[in-house]
Amino acid sequence: LYRQSGAKELATFVLIGPSGAGKTSLLTLFANGATTTTHTSQVPQTAQCQLPLTTRASEDRYRSENDDSARTQPQFHVLDTPGHGKLRHHALSALTDTTKPLKGIVYVVDSAELSSTAGLTEAAEYLHEILLVLQKRHTQGKTAKGPQGVAVLIAANKQDVFTSLPAGIVKTKLEEEMAKVRLTKSKGLLDSGVGSEDDAGADEESNWLGEYGARTFTFAQMEEHGIEVSVVGGNVLPDETGKTVTDDWWAWVGDNL
Ligand code: GTP
Ligand code: MG
Repeated sequence: LYRQSGAKELATFVLIGPSGAGKTSLLTLFANGATTTTHTSQVPQTAQCQLPLTTRASEDRYRSENDDSARTQPQFHVLDTPGHGKLRHHALSALTDTTKPLKGIVYVVDSAELSSTAGLTEAAEYLHEILLVLQKRHTQGKTAKGPQGVAVLIAANKQDVFTSLPAGIVKTKLEEEMAKVRLTKSKGLLDSGVGSEDDAGADEESNWLGEYGARTFTFAQMEEHGIEVSVVGGNVLPDETGKTVTDDWWAWVGDNL
């Protein structure tokens, strides 16, 4: 009742990813149009943002080019979460918070870090954890309020760095590594003997990300769970020509508002 009379809640996007990936830098850019010096985050923070005039929102898609009636750019909330391993509960609880209309997740990675084994493993493990929460949220939604679909943008950040991997490689490297993470987790589950004989199988299936039993993992496997994953490169900090590259990220936000 309260909801019906009140103003429409703003769409929320959550920034998630390993520490140092550029989440807070991206938040300040989204909120202020420019980025400033950041420090590693210890608490989550929210900013109200507006789509730039150059980006069309999905609701504008059918507007005629000649329609020059005033167009108000939609507003939305962006929630920045700390990437430190001990502070990830903030990100996880934001995914299951039903008081805010969650429209999408922006999973930010440092594209240069992914060429190291440690960097790749960390990014893949954290992403596996996040996608599994979203998958379960979708499965449980089927029985409750209807399945909850969500869009995930993997922002392959720091493309200005000369050692960074291009978005296409970021995608395949993450997919390969996540197949390994998934296998390790399922073995751990069997070894620990969680649950009785009867529900061990069901338990294993609900903790398996994507297509059950598949050898390879692809982000496309998430579509069945209402999760659409895109991998897009960019850089929050200006490259040597002085350009920040974020237009395609904004376009993704516009498409998912
Ligand atoms: P946590 O708060 O620890 O989770 O990290 P974070 O993801 O918020 O990272 P933050 O935005 O603080 O950025 C970490 C560092 O990366 C800062 O020194 C940024 O200036 C730098 N950085 C962010 N984006 C880019 C980029 O596109 N290119 C380059 N070269 N550096 C970037
Ligand atoms: Mg931060």
